[in-house]
Amino acid sequence: MEIKEIKIEELDTSDFIEKQVRQLRSAVGDGFAVNALSGGVDSSVVTMLGHKALGSKLKTYFIENGLMRKDEANQIKSWFNELGVEIEILDAKDRFLSALKGLTDPEEKREAITQTFYKDVFGDLVKQSGAKHLLQGTIYTDVEETIAGIKRQHNILEQLGINTEEKFGYTVLEPLIQIRKPGVRKVGEALGLPGIMYSRPPFPGPALATRIIGEITPEKIETVRLATSIVEEELSHTVAFQYLAILHDDKVTGLRDGRRDYGYQIEVRCWDSNDATTGKPTRLSFDILEKISERITIEVPGVVSVTYNIATKPPSTIEAV
Ligand code: XMP
Repeated sequence: MEIKEIKIEELDTSDFIEKQVRQLRSAVGDGFAVNALSGGVDSSVVTMLGHKALGSKLKTYFIENGLMRKDEANQIKSWFNELGVEIEILDAKDRFLSALKGLTDPEEKREAITQTFYKDVFGDLVKQSGAKHLLQGTIYTDVEETIAGIKRQHNILEQLGINTEEKFGYTVLEPLIQIRKPGVRKVGEALGLPGIMYSRPPFPGPALATRIIGEITPEKIETVRLATSIVEEELSHTVAFQYLAILHDDKVTGLRDGRRDYGYQIEVRCWDSNDATTGKPTRLSFDILEKISERITIEVPGVVSVTYNIATKPPSTIEAV
C-alpha cells in the first residue's frame, strides 16, 4: 500500500483527528484494541487519539522492557492517569534481555526486539484478552527509513510484507503514518496533551538498546541509563531536537587516582533537526560539554572517556544502533 505523506502545511489537525477517530471506530467495531505507550511523543499522541476514538474499548500498556530511562514507567503512568487514561505496566524485562543476550549486530538486535514485542509480548496479550487490533504510533519517517534500508525501525511490519494477522494474530492500526514528528506534535496539542508531553524530545521504541553498541547486558544498560539522565538534565534547557548518550563497546585506558583504569567510553550526541530525516550537531558551548563530561566521569561508574559527535546526518544517524 502506497502511503501518501500529509505535509505540515497541509495538516488541518481537527479534520485529521476527526477522520482518524472515524477510521479507528470503524476498524475496531464491536471488538477492542490494545496499545503500548512508551511515553515518547508518537505513542503518547496515539494513546490519546485511541482513547478519544475507542474509550474503554482500548486498553493501554506500558511495556517495561528493562531498556527504559530512569523512573520512566511510573512517570508516564502518572501523567496519563492525570489525563484520565488508565495504564497497566507489564513487566517483560526478562523476555527482552534474554532475546538480546549474545547479539551484537545492530539489525539482529532490532529484529530480536521486534519479535519479542510483537510476537511474544503482544501475541500473548491479544490471545489472553481477545483483542483483534494493536494501535501504534508509526510515523512517516519510520516507514521512509526502513524502506530506504537505512535502519529497520522496530515498528515497521506491513511495509516489509509481514502479515501481522497471520504471524501474530492481530491487525495493526497506524493513524499517524502519514505525518512526521512536527505534525504529530501539532495533533498532540490539538488533542489536549500538555506541552511537556507533546514537545518531549523523541525517544526510540527500542529505547536504550539503540544506544548500546555491541552486546546488551544489565551493566551496560545501567551505565547508559545514568549517562542519559545526566545528558538530559544538562541539555533540557536547549532547543535541540534530540540529545542522547551512547555507550561504546570498546574500552579505553584511563587514569584514576594515579592508577590505570580501563573503562567505558560515552559518546554524547545533540541534534538540530526538524523531523529527524537530516540533522546537524548542535553547537554547544565548551562549558556545557565540559560540565557533561565531568559529571559523567564522576557519576557514572566505570566511564573514563566522553566524546561529542560532530558528524551530520547523513552520513551519521541520530541513534547509534
Ligand atoms: P535514526 O537513528 O534512524 O533515527 O536517525 C531517526 C529518529 O527515529 C528514532 N528512532 C526510532 N524510533 N523505533 C522508533 O520508534 C526505532 O526503531 C527507532 N530508531 C530510531 C530516533 O530516536 C530519531 O528520532
